[in-house]
Amino acid sequence: RINTKKITTGSQALDGLLGGGIETRTMTELFGEFGSGKTQLCHQLSVNVQLPLEKGGLGGKAVYIDTEGTFRWERIEAMSKAIGLEPDSAMNNIYYMRAINSDHQMAIVDDLQELISKDPAIKLIIVDSVTSHFRAEFPGRENLAVRQQKLNKHLHQLVRLAEMYDLAVIITNQVMARPDMFYGDPTVAVGGHTLYHVPGIRVQLKKSRGNKRIARIVDAPHLPEGEVVFAITEEGVRD
Ligand code: GTP
Ligand code: MG
Repeated sequence: RINTKKITTGSQALDGLLGGGIETRTMTELFGEFGSGKTQLCHQLSVNVQLPLEKGGLGGKAVYIDTEGTFRWERIEAMSKAIGLEPDSAMNNIYYMRAINSDHQMAIVDDLQELISKDPAIKLIIVDSVTSHFRAEFPGRENLAVRQQKLNKHLHQLVRLAEMYDLAVIITNQVMARPDMFYGDPTVAVGGHTLYHVPGIRVQLKKSRGNKRIARIVDAPHLPEGEVVFAITEEGVRD
């Protein structure tokens, strides 16, 4: 795709699956069951975006919107050390924001345009997880319409930022594992919740043996089919 730039994930296999890495001007959804590696990948990418171009980064900064309180500065420290970045400056290059409810989460994104205008080094926006507050506050079928409406507005706002500022957006979405998940339609398997009509790339993550994880791209005709295996190590995401 023309004019997009890529951020390495830390795994060559996963980068290969993504056509080089996580791309700018695009929203990438990481979805999968608990422990499948969504949050670890988000940490890794908020570090890797800071790498120079020749090392797979964008020499940029990240905004990390944490809705579940699972962000760990110690992890950023370990991951940055492992790739030769100075940990203190790596941490300084991440704008950490804790969203306490869905209104707050949406308000944070409302304000991002101003922040990015002031700091054009921002090349990555992460929302981990994009769905948790909406699910908790608007549960069940009876709230589906209002939940979808709010979430769609939120997601389209993120897509607009990606396109306007040539940056990458990553959202995560916890999805229950099902035995037939990789073969059936995952978008209808997700506990009544679907993001499939939102533009972008969807990456399904699955637990495998030990620290191994499996990734697969869903519904992206321009990317190769198939699965790849990567690992979550002390140093971060690796092959
Ligand atoms: P939910 O948010 O619960 O849906 O899960 P997730 O998909 O965000 O999973 P997450 O990325 O938090 O965790 C994936 C796995 O990473 C965990 O099960 C741990 O095995 C591993 N992990 C997390 N922190 C560390 C760490 O500091 N060191 C190492 N080596 N592995 C870790
Ligand atoms: Mg998580």
